[in-house]
Amino acid sequence: MDASPVPSSAFRDALARFASGVTVVAAATDSGPVGFTATGFTSVSLSPPLVLVCIGRRASAHDAVVGAERFGVSVLSECQSWIAEQFARPRIDRFRHVPRIRAAVPLIDGASALLQCRRHALHEAGDHTILVGEVIEALVGAGPPLVHFARRYGAFVAESAPAAESAHPPDPSVTGIRQGRHP
Ligand SMILES: Cc1cc2nc3c(=O)[nH]c(=O)nc-3n(C[C@H](O)[C@H](O)[C@H](O)COP(=O)(O)O)c2cc1C
Repeated sequence: MDASPVPSSAFRDALARFASGVTVVAAATDSGPVGFTATGFTSVSLSPPLVLVCIGRRASAHDAVVGAERFGVSVLSECQSWIAEQFARPRIDRFRHVPRIRAAVPLIDGASALLQCRRHALHEAGDHTILVGEVIEALVGAGPPLVHFARRYGAFVAESAPAAESAHPPDPSVTGIRQGRHP
């Protein structure tokens, strides 16, 4: 493989300046749920409704998540940075103390948004796999989002009024009283 003209540290530092939301991507397996923290998430298409997630090929969750027919994406809320940290930690029970909603795929209660997805396509991209999912259910939670920037977690600060009222108010099955604080 040709050496890259961009040092890995410069690449990482530049990308750390891209502020993003934080998700947990998870799937059910015969031996229990598997998931990981991901900021490599984006919407792809409106019709059909597609999203994508980038998964490191050496990640412990890789095979289970890309091999699953269905997976869940939980867009974490501001008070769930502990969940983001827990789902990035190796060799632990990542689901410990994490409240989930009743669903065919693992979805985290108190999240800012929840997507149930069906695997649509897989693409190899360097050391990652791009998993494209068709969204088959979308729920909106009440919590403001968790934001990741410069390797730190923070909150979103609005500087303008919303452009339009949301047609989808928070879903009561997500908002509950459990807002995901660390127990
Ligand atoms: C803020 C944050 C964002 C991350 N985003 C991704 C991502 O988009 N894709 C990915 O494969 N891993 C991502 N990771 C790393 C995984 O969460 C996890 O740590 C990695 O898969 C290693 O897990 P393992 O030790 O179980 O193999 C991210 C970690 C953090 C803390």
